[in-house]
Amino acid sequence: MHIGTTLTNFIIETQRQFEGATGEFTGLLNDIAVACKKISDLVNKGDLVGVLGTAGSENIQGEQQKKLDIISNEIFIEALAHNGHVAALASEEMDEVHHLSDHAPRGKYLVLFDPLDGSSNIDVNVSVGTIFSILKAPPGVKNPVREDFLKPGTEQVAAGYCLYGPSTMMVLTTGRGTNMFTLDRDFGEFLLTHSNVQIPEDTQEFAINTSNMRFWEPPVKRYIDECLAGRDGPRGKDFNMRWIASMVAEVHRILTRGGIFMYPMDTKIQAKGQGGKLRLMYEANPMGFIIEQAGGAATTGRARIMSLNPEDIHQRVPVVLGSRNEVERITRYHHG
Ligand code: AHG
Ligand code: MN
Ligand code: MN
Ligand code: MN
Repeated sequence: MHIGTTLTNFIIETQRQFEGATGEFTGLLNDIAVACKKISDLVNKGDLVGVLGTAGSENIQGEQQKKLDIISNEIFIEALAHNGHVAALASEEMDEVHHLSDHAPRGKYLVLFDPLDGSSNIDVNVSVGTIFSILKAPPGVKNPVREDFLKPGTEQVAAGYCLYGPSTMMVLTTGRGTNMFTLDRDFGEFLLTHSNVQIPEDTQEFAINTSNMRFWEPPVKRYIDECLAGRDGPRGKDFNMRWIASMVAEVHRILTRGGIFMYPMDTKIQAKGQGGKLRLMYEANPMGFIIEQAGGAATTGRARIMSLNPEDIHQRVPVVLGSRNEVERITRYHHG
């Protein structure tokens, strides 16, 4: 597919080649693109339209919701729930599965999404994003339930994210590589700007929140210590560090120039009785799919993310993803 083609053309073309086109998947991706363009517009306008700041409520994770967490969630529902492309929705900002209204046409897909990722960055004008994961809905079920969503990441039909940075970019995989589209604000279309992205297998850049260092498990501590030891240590090379605190922005950097991203298990998370920090269904699985399709790897430190059997829509897992050789090294340290 040639650089500069629109997202819509790209999807129609790939669907024609591989799926036989009913148009429903193309319609769904189009709905998602519309939602992301709306969120992008609000993120860009920020204080001018009064969307920054906290909402004064908490989500099921016990996090303070930002106004834009809630607004972005509503924009997604509005864009997806009436067009006959989905059967039900689930999101970070909704405790339960969102059922469509009784008279709305049902489609054959389920969508899970993180409407605003990195929302702690929104008030300081740093990049945020939206993450989505698309699954097949069970045929003939009017209102799919929680269990219908609890499929391993390997069952994803497509996954993507939209990054609201200096430019707005949509990154998408349908299982045949990872492609990047940049929003042309003048005529409101996402245009293909990088096709079949490949993550370098090796890297000298890591991303982890080092304020949690005293809580880390030994394999993580060992890996980072070795990176910090630089060219005099066992790795024989110096490492650079980044931590944006928006997973979307970290994954985007890794797709662009390689690197490793970790939000590992630690004793602080354990003490809260949680399985990790990041959420399996709308953060780890879609990002795992995108990263694997770009030649990278995504594990919990012990097992492949996409092979996990989910137990809950809001389940949390440890995440290690990025350049293949580094992910394999960290996974080896966990098993050793
Ligand atoms: P969200 O804003 O959707 O709740 O996700 C935030 C996540 C992720 O984007 C980021 O990598 C991580 O939380 C940052 O965590 P710390 O604030 O602990 O660094
Ligand atoms: Mn959140
Ligand atoms: Mn998130
Ligand atoms: Mn979020």
